[in-house]
Amino acid sequence: MNKITIAIDGVSSTGKSTIAKQIAKYLGYIYVDSGAMYRAVTLYAMQNGLITTNDFNVEALIYQLKNVEISFKYNEALGFAEVYLNGSNVERSIRTLEVSGFVSKVAAVSEVRQKLVAIQQQLGKDKGVVMDGRDIGTVVFPNAELKIFMTASAETRAQRRYKELTDRGDKITYESVLKNVQERDYLDSTRKDSPLIKADDAIEIDNSTLSLNEQFDKVLGLVKMTLEDT
Ligand code: DC
Repeated sequence: MNKITIAIDGVSSTGKSTIAKQIAKYLGYIYVDSGAMYRAVTLYAMQNGLITTNDFNVEALIYQLKNVEISFKYNEALGFAEVYLNGSNVERSIRTLEVSGFVSKVAAVSEVRQKLVAIQQQLGKDKGVVMDGRDIGTVVFPNAELKIFMTASAETRAQRRYKELTDRGDKITYESVLKNVQERDYLDSTRKDSPLIKADDAIEIDNSTLSLNEQFDKVLGLVKMTLEDT
């Protein structure tokens, strides 16, 4: 059977990656979390003093980008590939609210985007890939056979993210998570380079009231239709 490219874009914390992972597993495709790559660069900048509470040294980050090596390694037990920054597994440390607070600023830097888009295109060059992010259907794979754009209300997303972070023991408030979701929506959709927009040929799914099973069935239905047409 032909392999296709599946691009899943949408606003923060819509649960894109959960569905993308499940679909990739079902199809035997590779899954790439492009947001994890922007988060890993952000973590690098934080660890190297390029981002502090009041300052973001963009020039230094651009200069040091050549020292940032991002890779993925499949974790059999988890069933997906975890992200590595210069050889260290950073899958957990990139998910803190601190990294979430800075990542949209880092993702707005064109040089960062160029570097990461090139890696993403390389990872998906043989098709058979499910990639989620903000610009996958518009910039990374404009010819993807299936493009999905996921949305949900900011409150629904913040509630989900809050539960995820508190379940793993993070001490945070719902208000701080909601504020971060709203700020990232604003920054991601108003930045100059590759802003978050729905591709003309993307299919929009609002999952505010859909269970995970319903979302999976809906996306799988679209995948099957696309495969029949390919
Ligand atoms: O999907 P996420 O929340 O882990 O993404 C983290 C940030 O990275 C998000 O605020 C926007 C940015 N991002 C991007 O600009 N382009 C992508 N393809 C993926 C993520």
